Amino acid sequence: MWASAVLPLVAASAFAQYSTGSPSPNGTTGPDADGKYEISAEGIRATFIPYGASISNLFINDTNGIERDIVLGFDNASHYSVDPFHPHLGGVPGRYANRIKNSTFTIDGVDYHVDANENGGADTLHGGSDGWDFRNFTVVAHTADSITFSIVDPDGKEGFPGEVVSYITYTVTAFTWNIKMVALATTKKTPIMLSSHTYWNLDAFANPETATTDNHTLHLPYSGQRIGVDNILIPDGTILPNEKYSVNDFWSSPKQLGANYSSPDIKNNCGFGCVGYDNAWLVNRAQNGPYDWRNEGPVATLASNFTGIQIDIFTDQDAFQVYSCPGQNGSLPIKSTQGYEGRPRVVEKYGCVVMEVEDWIDGINHPEWQREKKQIFGPGDDPYVLEAKYVFSVN
Ligand SMILES: *[C@@H]1O[C@H](CO)[C@@H](O)[C@H](O)[C@H]1NC(C)=O
Ligand SMILES: *[C@@H]1O[C@H](CO)[C@@H](O)[C@H](O)[C@H]1NC(C)=O
Ligand SMILES: *[C@@H]1O[C@H](CO)[C@@H](O)[C@H](O)[C@H]1NC(C)=O
Ligand SMILES: *[C@@H]1O[C@H](CO)[C@@H](O)[C@H](O)[C@H]1NC(C)=O
Ligand SMILES: *[C@@H]1O[C@H](CO)[C@@H](O)[C@H](O)[C@H]1NC(C)=O
Ligand SMILES: *[C@@H]1O[C@H](CO)[C@@H](O)[C@H](O)[C@H]1NC(C)=O
Ligand SMILES: *[C@@H]1O[C@H](CO)[C@@H](O)[C@H](O)[C@H]1NC(C)=O
Ligand SMILES: *[C@@H]1O[C@H](CO)[C@@H](O)[C@H](O)[C@H]1NC(C)=O
Ligand SMILES: *[C@@H]1O[C@H](CO)[C@@H](O)[C@H](O)[C@H]1NC(C)=O
Repeated sequence: MWASAVLPLVAASAFAQYSTGSPSPNGTTGPDADGKYEISAEGIRATFIPYGASISNLFINDTNGIERDIVLGFDNASHYSVDPFHPHLGGVPGRYANRIKNSTFTIDGVDYHVDANENGGADTLHGGSDGWDFRNFTVVAHTADSITFSIVDPDGKEGFPGEVVSYITYTVTAFTWNIKMVALATTKKTPIMLSSHTYWNLDAFANPETATTDNHTLHLPYSGQRIGVDNILIPDGTILPNEKYSVNDFWSSPKQLGANYSSPDIKNNCGFGCVGYDNAWLVNRAQNGPYDWRNEGPVATLASNFTGIQIDIFTDQDAFQVYSCPGQNGSLPIKSTQGYEGRPRVVEKYGCVVMEVEDWIDGINHPEWQREKKQIFGPGDDPYVLEAKYVFSVN
């Protein structure tokens, strides 16, 4: 089944007739008037769009029973394709998430050059200027609590070798968002690394005292180390210690995201001149012996005192990128479902936090890290698989 690129194309035409929102015999429904597909379960309601297989809204009831939309996105699905900033809102970066040094890599002695879409052509970010989250995926299934998207990424697209076929499934269960991403290299060996690039503000921008996430508390209990980067955030090959009480220490105890923003040590932490976080923490799970990622963890916990909403993230992935939105500047709008009356309806600096479960960034250019089996896939190999669950609770 996986080996055929034909399946999603067939499914796409079969589904065209269900675009009006009426259920088909197998329970599939089309998008709503905003172009969004809703799924729900006890305590959780979410919408998704084909563009980037992105999450667009995520509603959780806060400590006072008020529904809060805690992810960034746009009100209308059609806006994603025309938005000039394209901050990868809630999508699946692919086929290789994060940065690729010099936009090159080598597989079996062959050098490949991929689309250099960042820093004036110095590197590749999130799979190139037409990476997966710039494209409309196909909706292959949609039920009351689950949606599956597919994409066929052709040989040579953005410079990557070989065709990749991928299925992204989002399922909600009580108070939980479950993610399963599967990808197959059907014709040639190629790098594959996916993630979910969701931006969070657990206050839904409704906290009268702050529109930032500075007071959100983050805990990364397994992350005593992080990947060292240069001043344009390209991994430089080093693995750095997050010493206790240092600005990158989120392991020794939970800490507010903004707790160290005034420390001199944080300058340039997220690139040249940048104060904040845009870093890949390692997830050292093996320290306590064998583990089942579904039950042991979480690898990360994010909580806000204002809404009381807490996320516990469980995953099979070995790295965790955190971006605390130092690059936001008020140009991105919030949604009609968010905000506080009288305050500008935009995302300001530090107004959000992105948390990306993924593998060691740019591992394809660091063979000494020995990530090949997790990042290079060819025909006949087991598929690339990413699984995660985001469990919500209210304090
Ligand atoms: C969303 O945008 C589309 C295309 O621009 C438009 O046809 C539709 O009416 C919009 N939906 C709403 C609810 O504004
Ligand atoms: C929030 O609570 C209201 C009232 O009990 C309920 O109707 C709604 O479904 C809840 N929302 C979510 C996302 O669970
Ligand atoms: C994606 O689909 C939307 C809704 O049908 C459409 O408005 C948009 O132009 C499409 N974008 C791309 C990049 O194909
Ligand atoms: C960087 O890329 C260029 C061409 O894209 C290539 O000629 C050069 O060898 C690469 N440099 C390194 C250090 O890989
Ligand atoms: C749903 O049913 C339609 C026709 O009834 C069919 O064409 C389509 O392939 C089915 N989709 C799935 C995911 O089973
Ligand atoms: C945020 O936390 C700081 C101390 O960590 C505290 O002084 C401030 O009052 C808090 N602000 C809000 C809005 O909770
Ligand atoms: C960072 O903030 C924590 C919590 O307030 C504090 O214990 C620690 O000393 C700070 N570290 C630096 C380098 O400022
Ligand atoms: C959360 O609020 C409680 C009560 O208002 C306060 O005691 C506590 O210090 C706050 N925690 C944080 C992390 O702001
Ligand atoms: C704000 O950020 C956007 C996107 O990064 C950028 O294009 C724009 O020039 C910035 N605006 C200002 C006023 O700095």
